[in-house]
Amino acid sequence: MVVKKVGVIGCGLMGHGIAQVAAQAGCTVVVRESDQAALDKGLGRIRKSLDKLVEKEKLTRPAADAAFGHISGTLELAALSDCDLVVEAIVEDLGVKKQLYGELGRLCKPTTIFASNTSSFSIGEMGRASGRPQRMVGLHFFNPVQLMKLVEVVRAKETSDEVFAEAKAFGEACGKVPVAASDTPGFVVNRLLVPYMAEAIRMVERGDATPADVDAGMTLGCGYPMGPFTLTDYVGLDTTLSILEGWHKLDPGNPLFNPPKLLVDKVKAGKLGRKTGEGFFKWDGDKRA
Ligand code: CAA
Ligand code: NAD
Repeated sequence: MVVKKVGVIGCGLMGHGIAQVAAQAGCTVVVRESDQAALDKGLGRIRKSLDKLVEKEKLTRPAADAAFGHISGTLELAALSDCDLVVEAIVEDLGVKKQLYGELGRLCKPTTIFASNTSSFSIGEMGRASGRPQRMVGLHFFNPVQLMKLVEVVRAKETSDEVFAEAKAFGEACGKVPVAASDTPGFVVNRLLVPYMAEAIRMVERGDATPADVDAGMTLGCGYPMGPFTLTDYVGLDTTLSILEGWHKLDPGNPLFNPPKLLVDKVKAGKLGRKTGEGFFKWDGDKRA
């Protein structure tokens, strides 16, 4: 694997997990956040997750300490300029992401691979914003990154074969099973999963069932590890809404992409899910209250 030094931008729900699995793969990792409080919180999450893996005997204490030792934090984008790979995991907003890729295109060494963890946006469009579309690929990890085995490796039309192969090798080094996906809205998994989550919300809006009953139906009836409402709380209602709004703009005639009003109202009220303590359910830290 050519990738030795990895930059991770955003150390939230996804970024902290990506930084952790990259460090566990032996890479040197530089994490960039927008402010010190968010950086401290993200690094604290990584420490907590590594401690949990030690406690569960999935990792030795020296291996956990070594992984944490591979990670450093920064507020400066320029600190990522000599990275072999930059993985971006900031807010799901195409305008903000494109602006960031423009800056990265001006800052990074010519061989840097740019990878977005976007749930739904076009990898090609971000690549063009960077000015180096052949160096751009999607690396879509799943939440929680430390436990979920899949990574989608998304190839835009312009992505070079070399960049695609390197991104796949990096995903494998992080302990994931890569699936190749085309640069279409939602790639493979979210194109199925997000309309399912939206349909569940519409079912509750119509008064056909309660969130608790829908979740019981899908966990007990279908063996899903979480029902759609717990899952939406887990992913973040804001992120789920951003995905649907993005697709609705692209294809307003598709009823599956209509953002449900109940979801819009919850986001307006700041009920974003597990991260704010309430979404469709109430949360006590990481667990359902
Ligand atoms: N690091 C280390 N350990 C962790 C952890 C982390 N980040 N997260 C959880 N654990 C630990 C827990 O603390 C727990 O330990 P204890 O048993 O000591 O309490 C253990 O792992 C198992 O966790 P849970 O008790 O929560 O038990 P679980 O069996 O329900 O497993 C789960 C959790 C793997 C998340 C499972 O519920 C699951 O697979 N849920 C579905 C998740 C899913 O669908 N993710 C995809 C979301 S969509 C997406 O990611 C794409 C997108 O773009 C939106
Ligand atoms: P999050 O809100 O938890 O984290 C985003 C982080 O990025 C925040 O800590 C924020 O401070 C930081 N940030 C914003 N702008 C920044 C910048 N310019 N530079 C550095 N840091 C910046 O969001 P998340 O849930 O981790 O989602 C991140 C990305 O991953 C999104 O594109 C999302 O669609 C995707 N994703 C999310 C999930 C999920 O389940 N939540 C799953 C897969 C992919």
